[in-house]
Amino acid sequence: MNLRAKLTLFVSFLLLLVIVVVSYNIFVTQKKILTQQISETRSRAFKSFVSMCNEAIKVRDDIQVNNAVKLLVSTYKPSVVYAGYINLNNAVMYASRDEDRNMDSVLKARIKKASKDYIEIYSSLTGEQICEFATPFFFQGENVGTFVVGFSQDKMKEQIDESISIMLSKIKVIVIVTFIFGVLLVYFLGYSFVKPIKILTVAAEEITKGNLDVEIKVNRKDEIGILSNTFNNMTKQIKELDTMKDSFVSSVSHELRSPLSAIDGYCDLLIEYVNKDYSKEQQLKGLQIIKQATVRLTNFINNILDLAKMKANKLEIKKTDADITAVIEEIVSLYEPLAAQQKKRIYSEIKEEIPFINMDIERIKQVVTNLVSNAMKFTKENGNVVLKAFPNSEGYGNDYIEVWVQDDGVGIPKQQVDLVFQKFYQVKEGEFKKPKGTGLGLTIVFEIIKLHNGHVWAESDLGKGTTFKFVLPK
Ligand SMILES: Nc1ncnc2c1ncn2[C@@H]1O[C@H](COP(=O)(O)OP(=O)(O)O)[C@@H](O)[C@H]1O
Ligand SMILES: [Mg+2]
Repeated sequence: MNLRAKLTLFVSFLLLLVIVVVSYNIFVTQKKILTQQISETRSRAFKSFVSMCNEAIKVRDDIQVNNAVKLLVSTYKPSVVYAGYINLNNAVMYASRDEDRNMDSVLKARIKKASKDYIEIYSSLTGEQICEFATPFFFQGENVGTFVVGFSQDKMKEQIDESISIMLSKIKVIVIVTFIFGVLLVYFLGYSFVKPIKILTVAAEEITKGNLDVEIKVNRKDEIGILSNTFNNMTKQIKELDTMKDSFVSSVSHELRSPLSAIDGYCDLLIEYVNKDYSKEQQLKGLQIIKQATVRLTNFINNILDLAKMKANKLEIKKTDADITAVIEEIVSLYEPLAAQQKKRIYSEIKEEIPFINMDIERIKQVVTNLVSNAMKFTKENGNVVLKAFPNSEGYGNDYIEVWVQDDGVGIPKQQVDLVFQKFYQVKEGEFKKPKGTGLGLTIVFEIIKLHNGHVWAESDLGKGTTFKFVLPK
């Protein structure tokens, strides 16, 4: 059963339950009210009958008493079965609804001198339930007679049943209309709930098929709106990851293939050189190129492994007190030959003494190496790469030392400066449409600095150069 049918069924059931409970309650209260009303009417009728007769008896006007009796019976026919007055000598004045019936004996049988007011329900000889009101008549302090009026209980029941059945027929109409209206409303409301779910399902199916360009149009602010928005964000992220994956695969193949083909080519050359007795220098040059290619491969593989460790939170930091100045100078001298070869200049500029800090020396070397290799990569001929260090940080205060790797290279577009730390992110604009590398170096830098409770960021002017800065706590 689908969602809409379930909802409709559930609401119908609920509606029915409410209707039944409410109707039953109305029925019960209405019955109570009607019964009470009738009892009050009877009481009033009896009292006014008694007071009318009282006056007449006191002036011994039997005719008026008789008239009162007859009037009561005829007015409240068929509710009043009989009414009468009995005095001490069992003299009776009465009238009955059933004129043909001899009420004399009936009434006489009922008559006992009432010593006080009573209301009694009994079954008459014809089997009718009768509610009898009686009150004694006092004359000059003496109990000299009794007034009685018999009301028909059956007639009362009929009366109640009749007005309740009128009410029930009205309720019936209301109930049917409400029910039909309610169910229809829920059915159509259900549509507005189910429709976006159907759209989401179709979109999810599209994604499963590999179409990542789906977007759900949302203009509602309820839970379904939130779900749709989340869905759109999810699709966007999947798409981003998909492009990242593609660029990573192409970077990886390039990073693997180019050093491998260098190694392969130079191995062939070396074999030829050995066979043809080439000079030692020529052989050495070949070996150096092979060495460079293996270093590049090793670095690349290490980057990938480091990233995997970071993802699993397994990158370990072994801190010792160490000298950052020495690290910087070591890396500068390591890159000097390459810089000379590429007609670039690399140097350090450290004017103040930098205190020893607690750090993982190998990991910080990795950070500086990554930054320097980027700076070299993105600087043109005659460019400069400068490494600076300061004992205090301007932005983060005196609890930090600060290190800069500055270049006057191509720079990074403003909007992308903060993005370069993202996994696989590479600027693909301007002069560097196809950068060599994997986009992992800065991600690793970021993670290592984070593990040292430091901060790293970049400042750049497109076309003028970039400075990568990081701070480490003392
Ligand atoms: N010194 C720099 N000058 C200009 N752009 C840079 C510099 N350093 C990094 N970038 C940009 O940031 C990107 C990410 O750098 P990185 O994570 O080291 O990856 P990779 O060097 O493998 O491309 C680079 O592709 C480049 O676009
Ligand atoms: Mg890099």
